[in-house]
Amino acid sequence: MKKLKTQVAIIGAGPSGLLLGQLLARKGISNIILEKETGSYVLGRIRAGIFEQGFVDLVHEAGAADRMSKEGEVHNGFEIAVDGRTTRIDLKKLTGGNAVVCYGQVEITKDLMDARTNAELITYYEASAVELGDVKLDKPTVTFAHGGEEYQLQCDYIAGCDGFHGVSRQTIPADLRTEHERIYPFGWMGLLSDTPPVSEELIYSKHHRGFALASRRSATRSRYYIQVPLTDQVADWSDNAFWEELKKRLPAEAAANLITGPSIEKSVAPLRSFICEPMQYGNLFLVGDAAHIVPPTGAKGLNLAASDVSTLYKVLTRVYDSGDKHCIEQYSAIALRRVWHGERFSWWMTNMLHNFDDMTAHGLEGLTFGRFMASELAYYLASEAGQKVIAEQYVGLPYEDLAP
Ligand code: FAD
Ligand code: PHB
Repeated sequence: MKKLKTQVAIIGAGPSGLLLGQLLARKGISNIILEKETGSYVLGRIRAGIFEQGFVDLVHEAGAADRMSKEGEVHNGFEIAVDGRTTRIDLKKLTGGNAVVCYGQVEITKDLMDARTNAELITYYEASAVELGDVKLDKPTVTFAHGGEEYQLQCDYIAGCDGFHGVSRQTIPADLRTEHERIYPFGWMGLLSDTPPVSEELIYSKHHRGFALASRRSATRSRYYIQVPLTDQVADWSDNAFWEELKKRLPAEAAANLITGPSIEKSVAPLRSFICEPMQYGNLFLVGDAAHIVPPTGAKGLNLAASDVSTLYKVLTRVYDSGDKHCIEQYSAIALRRVWHGERFSWWMTNMLHNFDDMTAHGLEGLTFGRFMASELAYYLASEAGQKVIAEQYVGLPYEDLAP
């Protein structure tokens, strides 16, 4: 068995793991990343598009923001349409100057991968049989296989950045963690195409045929989503069927602007709210989707991962700078306070914007629940105070500092 040593072992080379690795390395804290898949597989997952300022600031601090600064779009607002009638949420005005940045998760992942390569930091792609050991002891270990060899990595701390299906969360004994979960009775079908987007700003459209979202990656690349039954698969939707349905659900002006073309990617994502408490066990810290999942309606998933990264980065820099290990105990509580806000916002937006009319088969009150939520959305959209509640959460709540 080959032996390796580092200060922080990071499991997973998604955006959480790569961002944390880059930040730590710039503070002189060594780290090795173990990733189950190949780099190109990781880059094939088309996901987030909207980043809060807190996330953008961290990418700057990680030294990987050059391309995002040039190619990312600042969005000062977005629209919510209800059966064709639109209300603009003026983020900038309602939040006293804040906005979000529209840039792809794929692009940011690529930028972080490039930064890692340039800094000559070690990543084992296609690492299999990853197992965490001795996480309660001073020197935890991670064993894994790579290229036909067995490895043992000894470290001080382990950051579990390995997503919802990873091994890190499972390492916490089942009787010491509480998992909260809600599965929604529908999914999102997403389509990416090299066609000019229908609008300069995102449109979240509540419609009696089902929710739709018009998003974008650039002036020439569009990202669209439609609410579909959980049973629907990609093969059930030709490009043409997707475009036809999308057109029906967008407000008339946007529908008239819709330029269609061949899809570059199509996928279905189930919608889930999930939180694991606590987010740490001994010297293991869970980060991002490994600890929590939100439905994508509030654009919060990667943004919550970023606030976890920020908190863990503060903890580990204090530990290595000052030797103060007490601050370690703060990680889970600080991370979870912000996670629960993001979870609540995503759950609320999902409930208000989707169509629940035909959900009685799933044990929901369906029609009645849908009416309550439609009324709630109308109430919030009707006043500046209501819009402000949406805007403040969409741009992202502040990050919490460690206690002294
Ligand atoms: P992941 O991206 O899941 O990365 C985990 C990594 O760990 C993966 O590379 C995986 O291969 C690896 N791994 C897993 N198991 C192991 C193992 N055993 N050993 C080693 N490695 C392992 N968020 C937003 O903020 N804004 C948005 O607009 C937004 N839109 C979204 C749209 C859709 C359709 C979806 C599905 C999600 C969206 N999200 C959005 C959420 C966002 O994509 C996720 O929150 C984000 O990917 C989390 O990053 P992560 O690094 O924590 O996890
Ligand atoms: C995206 O562009 O992929 C996107 C944007 C906003 C969301 C979800 C996804 O709320």
